[in-house]
Amino acid sequence: MKYSTLLTSASAAILTTTADARVVMPHEAQLANTLVGRAFPANAPHGYTPQIGNCPSNRPSVRAANGLSSNETAWLEVRRNATLQPMRDLLGRLNITGLDTTSYINNHQNNASALPNIGIAVSGGGYRAMLNGAGVLEAFDNRTSNATSAGQLGGLLQSATYLTGLSGGSWLVGTLYANNFTSIDSILGQDTSASGSGDIWQLGNDVFVGPSTSGIQLFGSAGYYSALQSAISDKQKAGFDISLTDYWGRALSYQLVNATDGGPAFTWSSIAKQDWFTSGSAPMPIIVSDSRAPGEVIVASNTTVFTFNPWEFGTFDPTVYGFVPMEYVGTNFSAGTTLSDQCVTGFDNVGFVMGTSATLFNQVLTRVNGTNTTSLFSSALQDGIVSVLKGVSSSDNDIADYPNPFYNYRSSTNSYASSKQLTLVDGGEDLQNVPLVPLIQPVRHVDVIFAIDSSADTNASLPTNASATNWPDGASLVATYERSLNATMENGTAFPAIPDINTFMNLGLNNRPTFFGCDAANQTGPSPLIVYLPNAPYVYNSNVSTFDLSYNDTERNAIVLNGYNGATQGNGTLDKQWGTCVGCAILSRSLDRTGTTVPDVCKQCFSKYCWDGTTNSTQPASYIPAMKLKAVSVTTSGTGKLSKSLLAAFVGTIAAAAIAGF
Ligand SMILES: *[C@@H]1O[C@H](CO)[C@@H](O)[C@H](O)[C@H]1NC(C)=O
Ligand SMILES: *[C@@H]1O[C@H](CO)[C@@H](O)[C@H](O)[C@H]1NC(C)=O
Ligand SMILES: *[C@@H]1O[C@H](CO)[C@@H](O)[C@H](O)[C@H]1NC(C)=O
Ligand SMILES: *[C@@H]1O[C@H](CO)[C@@H](O)[C@H](O)[C@H]1NC(C)=O
Ligand SMILES: *[C@@H]1O[C@H](CO)[C@@H](O)[C@H](O)[C@H]1NC(C)=O
Ligand SMILES: *[C@@H]1O[C@H](CO)[C@@H](O)[C@H](O)[C@H]1NC(C)=O
Ligand SMILES: *[C@@H]1O[C@H](CO)[C@@H](O)[C@H](O)[C@H]1NC(C)=O
Ligand SMILES: *[C@@H]1O[C@H](CO)[C@@H](O)[C@H](O)[C@H]1NC(C)=O
Ligand SMILES: *[C@@H]1O[C@H](CO)[C@@H](O)[C@H](O)[C@H]1NC(C)=O
Ligand SMILES: *[C@@H]1O[C@H](CO)[C@@H](O)[C@H](O)[C@H]1NC(C)=O
Ligand SMILES: *[C@@H]1O[C@H](CO)[C@@H](O)[C@H](O)[C@H]1NC(C)=O
Ligand SMILES: *[C@@H]1O[C@H](CO)[C@@H](O)[C@H](O)[C@H]1NC(C)=O
Repeated sequence: MKYSTLLTSASAAILTTTADARVVMPHEAQLANTLVGRAFPANAPHGYTPQIGNCPSNRPSVRAANGLSSNETAWLEVRRNATLQPMRDLLGRLNITGLDTTSYINNHQNNASALPNIGIAVSGGGYRAMLNGAGVLEAFDNRTSNATSAGQLGGLLQSATYLTGLSGGSWLVGTLYANNFTSIDSILGQDTSASGSGDIWQLGNDVFVGPSTSGIQLFGSAGYYSALQSAISDKQKAGFDISLTDYWGRALSYQLVNATDGGPAFTWSSIAKQDWFTSGSAPMPIIVSDSRAPGEVIVASNTTVFTFNPWEFGTFDPTVYGFVPMEYVGTNFSAGTTLSDQCVTGFDNVGFVMGTSATLFNQVLTRVNGTNTTSLFSSALQDGIVSVLKGVSSSDNDIADYPNPFYNYRSSTNSYASSKQLTLVDGGEDLQNVPLVPLIQPVRHVDVIFAIDSSADTNASLPTNASATNWPDGASLVATYERSLNATMENGTAFPAIPDINTFMNLGLNNRPTFFGCDAANQTGPSPLIVYLPNAPYVYNSNVSTFDLSYNDTERNAIVLNGYNGATQGNGTLDKQWGTCVGCAILSRSLDRTGTTVPDVCKQCFSKYCWDGTTNSTQPASYIPAMKLKAVSVTTSGTGKLSKSLLAAFVGTIAAAAIAGF
């Protein structure tokens, strides 16, 4: 449907009451039935509203972060087994001359800790990050057609133990896990015709206007806003504080969760109960968010980094150093135990978790509230948005509000110990825009991290040259490295040495894959090898603004294709040895542990891809990267204009965020 039509139909009804304007939904119990097996509407029939009920006999409590949860430990045994065959297939295909990789895996298969342990981290950066990350995961997925030909990387996803996401990266991770671990190919190949069931990643449907269907029927903006409003006011009526993140998370869900109304009953913790997850067929997903007390300034060295995994919410950081069961987040705790025998479930809505990791985008909604946007929106639509936002306190504009599970917990080091509210913000606000912190925890023993960086760091030099903006410059790795050197915060983590940003630019380390920490013996402690995969123009200028919130399918697919070409180096066109080198990076720490001779091809790879310690910290020239392969042609249609012009009107927000590197 065209915007004009949507806007007109919206105008008529936007101000009618919730009950009148709400598009008819199937009875929620019925909805739950139609979804059984395909997803996890764990909070059905209550939709988005958290439920208060009796705690289980074994009351949830905070556990100290002095190890992995028993759940993760047990699951890892299953997962590590499930990665053996994909790893044999993958490494066998990568032509690592001089090492019989199949025998290597076979010889060590009864000792999982000898074998490679792989993590993948997807950075923030809005839809740019989601789509670029998707292209890389597509290349790593053995379900992608052509990804299992000689030299290709399909199966790396199936071989990985962990997959982390932050902000825009959390939308990618969340999409896969909310939707039966679907594949990128399935998403891009959805039947989006009127009779088709394809609904997710329809990014031409501006998030301000809402989708054209609710998943089962035609939908208009009026129905969209009243559905948002109604879900959130029900949560508020049930006694929970709400924040802009509730709106943003619900709105996002229409794009990301393949169910009627974006699956209001879907919870993050229910991933732990999905067959495909318990059987170890997918990596463990972890979403990252930062915490910020009121008035606090966030810097990498002192922000507590919180994580959401299927079983637990919490942090290994020495400040809070605790985890609570994910399913009961929303419950009131004090001093590590529940305040009463009443427990909350259903608070951990999957969209709310993704929204929490991406609170940066709350700013976008806020600006609509305070600005006369009638030249862009119909005034009725603007009034609708404002009326939706009226109930939300502006002091909570950029936070997600959680009942604090760590209230009265570890008061000597936990700066939130005296607060009943835990305020979480965008995972990239501490500049660690690639979610590495959960992967460098010594208890996880990760050997290699594929660090997909779609940050928008470059901007200052030539703001008027579109080719020069929104590319990464290594700042995220620098932030994680610096934090790992802070004696107060590192708490046993180590990270490979990372050069300064000028060196990244001068040596082109931000323009091609680079390995950091190649020499296991020369680290400050056990730390993974980092395979840094910066977003760069391979077949498309994928440096679109973090705040472009709508894309037609052609442009969406071009950004994914660009990410795919980065991950495969143009199916080996740029370096026919690239696949081999990825295999060497995967094996590196394992070979070291098992005292196996490093094959000559791997030595060649390491001399080609490892940062060798050279620096050049002089002021770099403007970064205007050239297209590396033949560009694909993309017609950007008018559909994105609404968001683009709306956002262009809010230059202040964009500039502020650009400084933070989103
Ligand atoms: C979930 O994915 C698996 C693997 O692709 C498929 O076999 C199964 O049918 C899917 N389940 C549903 C309910 O779509
Ligand atoms: C996690 O492990 C605990 C203790 O072993 C168990 O009681 C709980 O049910 C597990 N949680 C999930 C979601 O499987
Ligand atoms: C892992 O695989 C081995 C060998 O196939 C088997 O003996 C073991 O029971 C498996 N462990 C788990 C937890 O599935
Ligand atoms: C991908 O890997 C999984 C896990 O090993 C395996 O079950 C599946 O058959 C593989 N699919 C393809 C197309 O190779
Ligand atoms: C495998 O790598 C060797 C060099 O180690 C090279 O000579 C050979 O052509 C490669 N084979 C394929 C199929 O790429
Ligand atoms: C498929 O993979 C082969 C081998 O790497 C490559 O030559 C070819 O270009 C790829 N085709 C597509 C459509 O990506
Ligand atoms: C979305 O759900 C429909 C209906 O179950 C299913 O047919 C389709 O494959 C799903 N889409 C994706 C991308 O998983
Ligand atoms: C974090 O560091 C900033 C800047 O040094 C400082 O303003 C802030 O108070 C610190 N916060 C905490 C909790 O230490
Ligand atoms: C290390 O972190 C502590 C705690 O947040 C902070 O007070 C200190 O300033 C940091 N040190 C450096 C060198 O950043
Ligand atoms: C990590 O922090 C916790 C809590 O402060 C502390 O007990 C533990 O010893 C620290 N671990 C390391 C390795 O420093
Ligand atoms: C908003 O701007 C339009 C012109 O773009 C103007 O006609 C209208 O009066 C303004 N509304 C308010 C409330 O200022
Ligand atoms: C929206 O604007 C209203 C009225 O100006 C204000 O009371 C409210 O706090 C604002 N809400 C947000 C989320 O900015």
